[in-house]
Amino acid sequence: MKNQTLEVIRSRRTTRKFKPEQIKEEELQAILEAGLYSPSAHNDQPWNFTVIQNPKLMDELNKESKEIAKNFEDEMIKKMANNEKFNIFYKAPTIVVVSGREDAMMPETDCAAAAENMLIAAESLDVGGCWNGFVGFLFKSAKGDEYKEKLNIPKGYKPYYAVSLGYKEVRATNAPQRRENTIQYIR
Ligand SMILES: Cc1cc2nc3c(=O)[nH]c(=O)nc-3n(C[C@H](O)[C@H](O)[C@H](O)COP(=O)(O)O)c2cc1C
Repeated sequence: MKNQTLEVIRSRRTTRKFKPEQIKEEELQAILEAGLYSPSAHNDQPWNFTVIQNPKLMDELNKESKEIAKNFEDEMIKKMANNEKFNIFYKAPTIVVVSGREDAMMPETDCAAAAENMLIAAESLDVGGCWNGFVGFLFKSAKGDEYKEKLNIPKGYKPYYAVSLGYKEVRATNAPQRRENTIQYIR
């Protein structure tokens, strides 16, 4: 079957090279609204979005996250962390840090739904997006509380990951092959 929503879902790909130009405010607002309209367990709506468009703070988050990841066992992550040129946000002009209310029923799952809704909304507007788990290393580290405060994350909320947003400098095509045998039917 074909319709606009299915087309957008199928054509969404992670953007890893962004134009420096900032996205339009109306695009940002539409993307955030799509996040707010995600489903959530118990209708908790336990998300909190922190929009960061401050290059200095983004640079700091990039450097500090890499510093933490330099000691990781995972070879690929370690290699990225030790690469001076690697920027965890791929120099996107906007990031949205997604935090969840810790006493909600399933906050991390709800926030993942919100992150994906934002990525799909971004694609529908031809805005590039990248789910960023890397910055989560910093939030989970000993410096996590310091950055929660610096980012003004409300009390009782835990930052999990971020969504990077910006116009696509390079358009990824050719979605990775889908793994087979991941669906069973019991009818
Ligand atoms: C929980 C999660 C964390 C991710 N973290 C990162 C990340 O830190 N950096 C990155 O470049 N991509 C990250 N991604 C994007 C995946 O690498 C990407 O979705 C996957 O390779 C499939 O490619 P596609 O999005 O183009 O279909 C993350 C995706 C998810 C779901």
